Amino acid sequence: MGYKTLCFGFFCILFAYCIYSPIPEDVEEPWKVRIISAMIKMTTFVGTICENIGLLKYEELLATLSTVHYTKAVSDENITVIDTKFSDIPVRLYLPKKKSERQRPAVIFIHGGAFVLGSYKIAAYDDLNRWTANKIGAVVVGIDTRICIMGDSSGGTLAATVTQLLQNDLNFKDKIKAQALMYPGLQSLDTLLPSHQKYQHGPILTREMIIKLVCLYVTEDKVLLQAALRNEHMPTESRHLFKFANWSDFLPEKYKKNHVYIEPVLGKLNASYPALVDSRLSPLLVNDTQLQSLPLTYVVTCEHDLLRDDSLIYISRLRKVGVKVTHEHIEKGVHGALSFTRAPVFLNLGLKIRDKYINWLEENL
Ligand SMILES: *[C@@H]1O[C@H](CO)[C@@H](O)[C@H](O)[C@H]1NC(C)=O
Ligand SMILES: *[C@@H]1O[C@H](CO)[C@@H](O)[C@H](O)[C@H]1NC(C)=O
Ligand SMILES: *[C@@H]1O[C@H](CO)[C@@H](O)[C@H](O)[C@H]1NC(C)=O
Ligand SMILES: *[C@@H]1O[C@H](CO)[C@@H](O)[C@H](O)[C@H]1NC(C)=O
Repeated sequence: MGYKTLCFGFFCILFAYCIYSPIPEDVEEPWKVRIISAMIKMTTFVGTICENIGLLKYEELLATLSTVHYTKAVSDENITVIDTKFSDIPVRLYLPKKKSERQRPAVIFIHGGAFVLGSYKIAAYDDLNRWTANKIGAVVVGIDTRICIMGDSSGGTLAATVTQLLQNDLNFKDKIKAQALMYPGLQSLDTLLPSHQKYQHGPILTREMIIKLVCLYVTEDKVLLQAALRNEHMPTESRHLFKFANWSDFLPEKYKKNHVYIEPVLGKLNASYPALVDSRLSPLLVNDTQLQSLPLTYVVTCEHDLLRDDSLIYISRLRKVGVKVTHEHIEKGVHGALSFTRAPVFLNLGLKIRDKYINWLEENL
């Protein structure tokens, strides 16, 4: 009994501490964002303790917690929902039951979770995919139909990558009609973009947390993590890539002010991680010729998001080479809203973004 009381007291203090971390004043639904940020911070804190005492790895704790929100494939009166596999990769299909007059559009959805967490089974994503199937009569199969590749957060990174790979492959060129990128991370070359600095302590994502998870995707060696936190992780021979992610060239003036461009420091790491220079992890690192062929693009950015500038740079570069981009910037928005549309963490912002995106799909797919 005494032990439980002690634990409970400890959690209350920790929660109070986390909930009073500052958040930007003009964030929409500030108390909910505060609570979500506090829950994430607490999880990170507990995860770090667990890891240090050798109980459980940080990412294992996060993965376990995210399974709480998993759903099963349940069909309803409008949609047949099936869990299956494509080449051994688990997928969930949403097939509208209603007959379609025209050729059906398709959406390929790639979930977020910093590359190491998450699943399409998460309730908020399941809701979103049902909604998409219902609203625009879209299915998630077939390759000779009108296809949009969509992803949020790290899923947005992968959506951007897949679209680049398909468009630059003669066998698949122009099979993809559109890509929709929801607040994605698009590079891991420079970890000190202005938004990375401004929002390093949140809300929602913190710089340390995101660097930790993305580094885990590359290696478990902590040396990379330490170097990336100092922005000293890129290999000597990578300087020619800087121009693709140079925020000083591509950010709108408004976001540049008070910031001075400093090049990431090269050659501090002995170990070599080819993933760091791979455009499949950092879609910003391709040249203009490769960008030119990209299809109609929809990007959602949120002002109060550490990853904001990744997208702003990508949008500038895409527009510069003539790619048509619809950009939805949410002034009071925070990262990850699409995945916070289920109790206990429900943000109206998530539904707002969903509706804007669905409208865009209806008009463009
Ligand atoms: C099925 O579609 C109808 C018409 O769009 C809608 O009113 C109903 O809520 C849908 N059912 C479910 C379970 O989503
Ligand atoms: C980054 O952009 C600024 C402004 O255009 C330029 O002065 C600087 O040389 C660029 N640095 C690199 C490494 O591309
Ligand atoms: C890198 O490797 C060299 C030679 O193997 C060694 O002398 C140096 O201390 C290493 N540097 C770091 C930062 O580990
Ligand atoms: C762009 O990159 C592709 C693939 O790496 C390469 O084949 C092509 O020559 C590059 N184009 C220019 C203009 O550098």
